[in-house]
Amino acid sequence: MKFKYVCNDCGKEFVTDEVMYTCPECSKKNNDKEFRYGNLNVEIDENELKALQKKEHVTYEDFFVYPLKNKDAYPVGGTPIARPLALSKKNGIKNLFFKLDSQLPSGSFKDRASQFVVAQAFAQGENKIALASTGNAGAAMSCAGAAYGLEIVLFVPATAPINKLMQSVLYGATVVPVKGTYDDAFALSIEYTKHFGGINRNTAYNPMTIEGKKSVSIELFEQLGRKVPDVFYVPVGDGCIISGVAKGFYDLKKAGLIDKLPHLVAAQSEESAAIANAFNTGKFLNIEKATTRADSISVESPAAGRTAVRRLKESDGWATVVKDSDILKAQRTLASEAGVFVEPAAATAYAALEKDSAMLVEKFGKDVSVGVLLTGTAFKDMAVFEGKASIPEAIENSVDAVIKRFSK
Ligand SMILES: Cc1ncc(COP(=O)(O)O)c(C=O)c1O
Repeated sequence: MKFKYVCNDCGKEFVTDEVMYTCPECSKKNNDKEFRYGNLNVEIDENELKALQKKEHVTYEDFFVYPLKNKDAYPVGGTPIARPLALSKKNGIKNLFFKLDSQLPSGSFKDRASQFVVAQAFAQGENKIALASTGNAGAAMSCAGAAYGLEIVLFVPATAPINKLMQSVLYGATVVPVKGTYDDAFALSIEYTKHFGGINRNTAYNPMTIEGKKSVSIELFEQLGRKVPDVFYVPVGDGCIISGVAKGFYDLKKAGLIDKLPHLVAAQSEESAAIANAFNTGKFLNIEKATTRADSISVESPAAGRTAVRRLKESDGWATVVKDSDILKAQRTLASEAGVFVEPAAATAYAALEKDSAMLVEKFGKDVSVGVLLTGTAFKDMAVFEGKASIPEAIENSVDAVIKRFSK
């Protein structure tokens, strides 16, 4: 498909087959205080998108500017939709569903971006991909690297949680701990690609990360019978996932397959609400210290912050900020009342929906259709339950012990 890059900030267009990362002019304005400048968006030729109207069904690959090779080696997509009986009732929303992206190959939504960055690498004849991450993006890229035999070089802050890093080590990535912050690792990974080549997959820095993440929206459109929900909740840290989700709906609209964008909701923790603050105040300022326990959305300087705010406005959406205690409660509620086991970042989207549910019914009526994107599995971070849940004491191996255990 024909496409051009368009700068999110100045609107300048770039047509090239080469790899492009950020707008050369706008990225000069980057500083420590404000959200990064110069994200590039991929703008696909309108006629090519409109031609998709002729198809009875579309797949997300129809909307990709690079072809996927050997897709089944790394089966990304096709995640189920759950319609939670009890939670639907509890929230008074009968048309409530969860999109279970926690079931992707490496256990998080990040597989969607990694799948597409592999397509970009193949199109460019590259077999090495470098990135910085503290967890899920690194694991997803390493998983893809193992599936396709690619070299993955992963820069991580030395303080990153060991359980998420171990996954990348076991997939066979070259893991480089850095004595510094995530931002330091981000900068070093860019220097690495400048010196040693390869594609850089840093979130939002490489526009193909947002572009790959749009696959969820196109998939959803077909799963819902060629419809999109009225409202869609997305957990937000860097703002890359929500920008990708928005891009998918934007492309569907540009193709003439839907006439209205869903209202997107950016779900954030009170302890890491940079994008919500920017959306509400119009000031794109980094926050001093993000401290949320939902580590995947703990972000001070959001890499796709400006794009995310623009896309939220375009969708007539909003930001809902929740307390960490409500996030951890939502994680337990999802497990015990819906059988859905997700990490705290993902549970943030559900916590926001719970907070908004009465307002949603009031604003859109009781038939409102609401989706919640659940982005990562809880299995990666069982430490969150330490001291909060425990395994009951073992009983003796005897019938007497069973009788004793269940007698009042
Ligand atoms: C499980 C999970 N949910 C949500 C997010 C937030 O995505 P973004 O940082 O693109 O806003 C991440 C990002 O790491 C994640 O891993």
